[in-house]
Amino acid sequence: MKLLVINGPNLNMLGIREPDIYGKESYAALERYLHETADKLGVELEIFKSNHEGELVDKIQWAYGRMDGIVINPAAYTHTSVAILDALKAVALPAVEVHLSQVDQREPFRQISYAGMACQTCFAGLGFAGYGKAMEYLADHIPSADLPQ
Ligand code: DQA
Repeated sequence: MKLLVINGPNLNMLGIREPDIYGKESYAALERYLHETADKLGVELEIFKSNHEGELVDKIQWAYGRMDGIVINPAAYTHTSVAILDALKAVALPAVEVHLSQVDQREPFRQISYAGMACQTCFAGLGFAGYGKAMEYLADHIPSADLPQ
């Protein structure tokens, strides 16, 4: 099983950026956590990070026919991007939304998630562990019949 993890804008600033909200650990630490989790689950992992909406759309399209599922933290684009929603709908891959912070207890503008409308579930407020839960969820929910032989 091949999973693509996509991270949106400003997540490269983890550790520096608002540590009270996003934690003190760096983006490199998140990548290490993702690789360790993938190894434990026995899944192949591709990680993509961009500050640019169009690059996120391009990567979602790239996943079509190559990946079995997508874990996505679109960061601020969660709350604005119909383009990312449409890309997720276009490829129709099983997708799970992740947020490090508890977005539903933050500002009103964070209460809408466009990307979430194309995702099977969401893990928010669990820090790095939310990504682990999302990867586990996909590993458990993608039927093996749908995987390339
Ligand atoms: C975030 C929450 C978003 O509202 C915010 O814009 C981010 C990070 C999170 O992981 O908690 O950049 O997606």
